[in-house]
Amino acid sequence: MAQHYVSLLFLFFTFTFTCSMAAKMVPAVFVFGDSLVDVGNNNYLTLSIAKANFPHNGVDFPGKKATGRFSNGRNAADFLAEKLGLPSSPPYLSLTSASNNSNAFLGGVSFASGGARILDPTDSLFKQSIHLSKQVEYYATVYANLVEQLGTVEAQKYFSKSLYAIVIGGNDILKYFGASDVQPKSTTPQELVDSMTLMMTGYLKRLYNLGARKFLVVGIPAVGCCPFQRNQNKTGGGCKEESNYWCNKYNEGAKSMLQAMKTEFKDINYAFSDSYNILLNFIQKPANYGFTEVKAACCGLGNLNADVPCSPISQYCPKRTDHVFWDLFHPTEATVKIFIDTIFDGSQPYVSPVNVRQLVAL
Ligand SMILES: *[C@@H]1O[C@H](CO)[C@@H](O)[C@H](O)[C@H]1NC(C)=O
Ligand SMILES: *[C@@H]1O[C@H](CO)[C@@H](O)[C@H](O)[C@H]1NC(C)=O
Repeated sequence: MAQHYVSLLFLFFTFTFTCSMAAKMVPAVFVFGDSLVDVGNNNYLTLSIAKANFPHNGVDFPGKKATGRFSNGRNAADFLAEKLGLPSSPPYLSLTSASNNSNAFLGGVSFASGGARILDPTDSLFKQSIHLSKQVEYYATVYANLVEQLGTVEAQKYFSKSLYAIVIGGNDILKYFGASDVQPKSTTPQELVDSMTLMMTGYLKRLYNLGARKFLVVGIPAVGCCPFQRNQNKTGGGCKEESNYWCNKYNEGAKSMLQAMKTEFKDINYAFSDSYNILLNFIQKPANYGFTEVKAACCGLGNLNADVPCSPISQYCPKRTDHVFWDLFHPTEATVKIFIDTIFDGSQPYVSPVNVRQLVAL
């Protein structure tokens, strides 16, 4: 009887173990990028003002917790991890500042930091955000640590099956086409997007040399339609066409660059998301996605709730699920959930040459 019970228990454990293993589609996700995927790194940057660890951020997060995510709830990194059957990759700075038990890196790490850009690595001197160059250097530390822990052969297998998600570029465009158009620029927009693509190629190659083989590169959304940029358009409150045009140009360049990389390095695979057109769909056909407000931010003050950023003293909308934008720059949890569904199981032109589900199965 007891033996019977034990074997049943054993069967039960084997079953649940197998199930949870099956649900996990990659060993780890390494996340690089900006506030769209920051899960709390900036909380550790004492001098940074690019933070979201205060209300009303997190109003829809479990426990209404303001974790540092620039969102009313979970962000794109959280939904991506959930789809892959993993917990969200923890912020790198939370792992190094506390007990840096090296096991902590095994399930993936997030290096993403609000305000991060592709260009101008020297900006990180001001300690506002972790520049992409620094994010990649942090990853090199994690890489060395895991190689030591797992051994070279096992570590290479682990890296090659893991997913490297890169979500960045919007801040480069916003900086260039920011507050005023009066200031003369030392570079043309074409030079801007060309150097972004060039820098990005360098970072991807560095990650490749550090074991990465599966890349999810998220293109820049139509940032010209965020409430901050709409608010600058005093003649009609439309999207800032110039920003949008160059977001699209960068995305086209990034897509060609990835095709070229795939020709050069045969053993890489990637999914590129046309975030620009995915977001534009939400804005142009809101009813299809359950949205009723595509212009104004949910949280903030003033015109389009975009004169003053979201803070404890600003108001926020009662229903977050019908707004595309949470604050003057960032989408709502509802928006990014549909976004991740689209790139996970969708098809061209929104995600190409494969979707994320296909990418991780390759
Ligand atoms: C672990 O912590 C020590 C001391 O804080 C630090 O020097 C080291 O770089 C950390 N290790 C990793 C892998 O981050
Ligand atoms: C401002 O919005 C109007 C109406 O949508 C649009 O036609 C115009 O191009 C926008 N202006 C700029 C500078 O983008």
